[in-house]
Amino acid sequence: MVTRRAVCPGSFDPVTNGHLDIIGRASKLFDEVIVAVLINKSKSQLFTVEERIEMLAECSAEYGNVKIDSFHGLLVDFCRDRGIQAIVKGLRAVSDFDYELQMGQMNHSLAGVDTLFIPTNPLYSYLSSSLVKEVATYGGDVSSLIPESVNSRLVERLR
Ligand code: PNS
Repeated sequence: MVTRRAVCPGSFDPVTNGHLDIIGRASKLFDEVIVAVLINKSKSQLFTVEERIEMLAECSAEYGNVKIDSFHGLLVDFCRDRGIQAIVKGLRAVSDFDYELQMGQMNHSLAGVDTLFIPTNPLYSYLSSSLVKEVATYGGDVSSLIPESVNSRLVERLR
């Protein structure tokens, strides 16, 4: 039997409760979910790829079928190398849709890999890693938006 495998790609700098909601829901739909952290040297990040992988691994350990990995280059090449049939993305709002649709169509035309969109839990529809970092930078409390262990690392990093 073919293993139904999906990837949840992203920067995850850092992982938020919104990401974890999508990862957890994807884990119920697929045999295996690979969370893939994009290695993007041109973008300055608060956490290293290793730190981001560590945080993701801690926070998704409860889902038995989720693995964490990193990639650079094209997502569809990563999918081909790992036998991944689907890309899973969360859609927060209409504003996400245009770009996500474009990427989904491009990835399908490049390699026949389909993208499945999961509507974000409305509790997290305003949530993004960049806003979490901005609020935390100025001393705002983001502890309800990210896992406790991630919040401790964030506070420590910004101190
Ligand atoms: O969390 P992000 O930064 O919004 O995630 C964006 C990501 C990683 C999903 C996207 O940039 C991506 O897939 N990059 C890999 C490069 C690639 O395949 N580009 C062509 C997309 S059509």
